[in-house]
Amino acid sequence: MSDVLDYAAVGVGPANLSLAALGADVDDLRSVHFEARPDFSWHPGLLLPEATLQVSPLKDLVTLVDPTSRYSFLAFLANEGRLYQFLTAKFPAVLRAEFDQYLQWASRSIPSIEFGTEVRGVRVRDGHFVLDTGHGEVTARNVVLGTGQTPFVPGFLRPHLCADVFHAEEFLSRPRELPDRAVTVIGGGQSGAEIVRHLMRLDVPPRSITWITRRPGFLPMDDSPFTNEYFFPAYAREFHGLPQTHKQELLAEQKLASDGIDLATLQDVYRERYRHECLLGRKDWLRLMPRSEVTGCARLSDGWELEVSGPHASVVRSDVVVLATGYEYRLPDCMSELAPHLARAPEGLVVGDDYALSLDLRTSGRVFLQNGARHTWGIADPNLSLLAWRSAVILNAILGYRRYNT
Ligand SMILES: Cc1cc2nc3c(=O)[nH]c(=O)nc-3n(C[C@H](O)[C@H](O)[C@H](O)COP(=O)(O)OP(=O)(O)OC[C@H]3O[C@@H](n4cnc5c(N)ncnc54)[C@H](O)[C@@H]3O)c2cc1C
Ligand SMILES: NC(=O)c1ccc[n+]([C@@H]2O[C@H](COP(=O)([O-])OP(=O)(O)OC[C@H]3O[C@@H](n4cnc5c(N)ncnc54)[C@H](OP(=O)(O)O)[C@@H]3O)[C@@H](O)[C@H]2O)c1
Repeated sequence: MSDVLDYAAVGVGPANLSLAALGADVDDLRSVHFEARPDFSWHPGLLLPEATLQVSPLKDLVTLVDPTSRYSFLAFLANEGRLYQFLTAKFPAVLRAEFDQYLQWASRSIPSIEFGTEVRGVRVRDGHFVLDTGHGEVTARNVVLGTGQTPFVPGFLRPHLCADVFHAEEFLSRPRELPDRAVTVIGGGQSGAEIVRHLMRLDVPPRSITWITRRPGFLPMDDSPFTNEYFFPAYAREFHGLPQTHKQELLAEQKLASDGIDLATLQDVYRERYRHECLLGRKDWLRLMPRSEVTGCARLSDGWELEVSGPHASVVRSDVVVLATGYEYRLPDCMSELAPHLARAPEGLVVGDDYALSLDLRTSGRVFLQNGARHTWGIADPNLSLLAWRSAVILNAILGYRRYNT
């Protein structure tokens, strides 16, 4: 048997875990999925105990393309003996902690996943892709990139990153003392809201909290029925076929459908503010600054001074600064050798209708991209809604036949 695999996947977050789950029972498929972390974990620094999924748990690794799969969320509940309790608990939304357990469970049952293996380089040799893992090489006809998004830190804040100025992605992994300290959270998306709620509920909360966002308000996610059709495969395909200028307008217009704050979190924050202000008499303890952009940062002998522009232009003095400033897609370092051979448009990588990148090298197969194509596939690309469908599209393309109905 040839030692060339059908595909090698780089990164095992939910995206490539879905691919692994859908491929697990395909006869004769030869694949490997490399993950740098020692085991599966889903944004562990933001796995706050009260955080919930923003989508239905039916948008799991497999259900929307294969409801009979043994890797579904329901199969997990059944395996854990929790089905009756889960139904009876009637959670309005599934806890992220439970979904993380589900993803871990699935990752442990799929033998083609290799944890603790970082892919350091990908190159083309004799028409095949060769992946360097630091402890060996693997040859494959196709590569599937699923390395996720990178925390976005505004340039002027990068030199200041330290134990007291850090991205939200690291929130739980930063040892810190918060009582008696003034905390500023920058960013009015879901991460910012969850951190503010968490800080407000601490037994010994910070001395004060300032929440700053560039958006005109602390705006809710649009989770209404017709808007939710943006997260249908048919809409994603339609979007992919539009002219790029039109796509840019729609991405801006549809932003809150994916990046607004879910209503329950907003209500929690509002109620916590009521409790602190009205019941505990902590007036102005939570300072809200919408329409405000942080544009500068200076180190003081005992903290930080943030320069804020907008209608309430001011200087905010802070001991701890949490950057809930979002994420951006970057091609992983392991692709540096192939990067000059990839076709690009001004707004980002060219990503085809089966999620393959355009590579100007002769190869046996292709490089597929998970979660890096918001600019050309639309707002659903980074989230869980199209996870199973996109993996099925990629798997069908690799197999060369329609294993899944997409
Ligand atoms: C806190 C948070 C909560 C979210 N909750 C929801 C939600 O409820 N609903 C929703 O629809 N969307 C949600 N999202 C958006 C999206 O679903 C997640 O970001 C999701 O984790 C994306 O999956 P991914 O597999 O593309 O990337 P990631 O989860 O980021 O996984 C990428 C993996 O690749 C690994 N990796 C990177 N480089 C290499 C390499 N060279 N070699 C080997 N491994 C590598 C990383 O270690 C990582 O484990 C959330 C996002 C965040 C930040
Ligand atoms: N429990 C969950 O399900 C959960 C938890 C966390 C995240 N998520 C998802 O993950 C994705 C990312 O969420 P996120 O909250 O991390 O990122 P995000 O939605 O991109 O929000 C980033 C925020 O930071 C603001 N910002 C950036 N730079 C700024 C500056 N210099 N000054 C002031 N404000 C600034 C942005 O303003 P602009 O909008 O003007 O750019 C935006 O409000 C979203 O789709 C979200 O729904 C889900």
